[in-house]
Amino acid sequence: MLFNRRQFLCASVALSVFPKVGLAAFPELVAREAAHQIAPVEFPKTPVWGFGGTVPGTEIRVPQGGRVQRRVSNALPQATSVHWHGIRIDNAMDGVPGLTQDVIESGGAFDYDFAVPDAGTYWYHSHNRTVEQVARGLYGPLIVEEPDAPEVDRDLTLMLDDWRLDPETGQITDDFDNGHDLSHAGRLGNIITVNGQLDPSYQVGAAERLRLRLINASNARIFDLGIDGLTGWIVALDGMPLETPLEITDTFPLGPAQRADMIVDVRALASETASLVSFERDGGFGLVRFDVSGAGRAVRSGIAALPPNPLPVISTDSAPLHRMEMQGGAMRWLSSAKLGETELTGQELAQLGRFWALNGYAERPKDPFLDTRLGETHQIEFANQTAFPHAMHMHGHHFRIILSDGSLGPWRDTVLLGRGQTRQVALVADNPGSWLLHCHMLGHAASGMMSWFRVT
Ligand code: C2O
Ligand code: CU
Repeated sequence: MLFNRRQFLCASVALSVFPKVGLAAFPELVAREAAHQIAPVEFPKTPVWGFGGTVPGTEIRVPQGGRVQRRVSNALPQATSVHWHGIRIDNAMDGVPGLTQDVIESGGAFDYDFAVPDAGTYWYHSHNRTVEQVARGLYGPLIVEEPDAPEVDRDLTLMLDDWRLDPETGQITDDFDNGHDLSHAGRLGNIITVNGQLDPSYQVGAAERLRLRLINASNARIFDLGIDGLTGWIVALDGMPLETPLEITDTFPLGPAQRADMIVDVRALASETASLVSFERDGGFGLVRFDVSGAGRAVRSGIAALPPNPLPVISTDSAPLHRMEMQGGAMRWLSSAKLGETELTGQELAQLGRFWALNGYAERPKDPFLDTRLGETHQIEFANQTAFPHAMHMHGHHFRIILSDGSLGPWRDTVLLGRGQTRQVALVADNPGSWLLHCHMLGHAASGMMSWFRVT
C-alpha cells in the first residue's frame, strides 16, 4: 500500500507542539526529537527532529540590519550544525562543519550571532548529515522584515516539504543512504506538507491582498506551482526583490532551497476557496487552501516592487568565466573521478556511495574551485552533463543569472539546471571566507556534488 496524497486532502491536522524557552545568554533554539502528526490522524504521530521541537522549526523574524542571536543546543542523538541559508553572513557563522565550525555534538551548544544585511525570505537548516537531518525536519523559516514593507492584509510563510513515511506505521523511513535515490532524482517522498501540515487551510477575506512567502525545504522535490482563485505577482526570488514584479500567468518552478515571495489578491468570492496548487505528472492538487469569508474590500490594482537590498553592482565586462561540469548519476555513470588526489573508477566510487562529480571530484576537493580576491567579479558556467536536474547553491553570496541575451536576470542563491542544461551566473565575491557550492538535492550533495570557493 502506498500513500495516495489525494485521499488526504480533507484530513485536518493540528500543530500540537510549542517551542520551549530556555535560559541562555542568547535565546535558545533546541534541536530535539518530537512527535508530529504528519500523516492523517488515523496514523500514529511521526517522530521528527525539530528546532524548538516543531516542524517547521520556530520562525525567526528580525528587522533588516538587525542581528540573529541564538544559542543552538543539540538534544539529538546525532551531531548537528545550523546553516542560515541565503544570508550574506559572517563566514564564521555559516554553519558548515569541517569548513567554518566544528559540529555541535549531542549535548553541546553553539552560539550563532550575525547581522542580516538583506530583507526577505530565508531559512535555516541543519548542515550536518543534511540528507538525513533535513528529511527528519531540521529546518525553519528566517524572515527579515523590510523597514517599509508593502501593505498587505496577511503575511503568510508557507514552508513546503516532502516526507517519505512508511505507509504502515507513519514513521520516517531511514533509508537516507539508499544508492538508488542518491544516484537518481534524490529522496522523493510520499506526503507533501506545508508548514508541517497535510492540506492546511487558512481563513482569508474576499479581495484581501496576501503576501505568501514560499520556501521549498524538501530534500529533492522540484515543485511546479500555480494559483487558483488568486491573481498576483512574484515579487522576490531567494529573498531578493525583483526589479519588476512578475505577473503570475502560468505555473512556475520552485527547486529545493529556493524561495518565492508572491503578493496575490483573493479573487475567489466569500464561501469559495482559493488555493496554491502543485502540478505533477498525474495532475494538479491543492497544497494550501484559502477559505474565503467576509464581504471584503475593493480589489486593489497594480503593485510596486519591493525596496531593493544593498547588493553590489555587477559588470561582467572583464569578469573571468569559470566552468563547472556536473557529472555522473544514473544513465551517465562516472567512468572515474577523484576522492582527494586518488582517481577511482565509477564502480569503486559507487561502492563508496559516490555517484556524482563536480569537475572530476566526487567530494569537496582540497583546493577551492575558485580562489578569488575580495571584491572581484566572476562568471560561473554550470554545465549539467547529467540526466537529472540539479539545484546549485552558493553560500554567503547571491549571484545574478545571465539571461540568453547576455543581460543580467534575477538575483538568486540557488539555480535550477534541467538535464543537459548549461547556465551562466555572475557574482561579486564581496564576502570573505570559505564558502560551499553544492547541489541542494541533499542526496546529490552527499554523494559527490560538493565544492567550495574562497574569498580572501
Ligand atoms: Cu541550504 Cu549548503 O545549504
Ligand atoms: Cu543534484
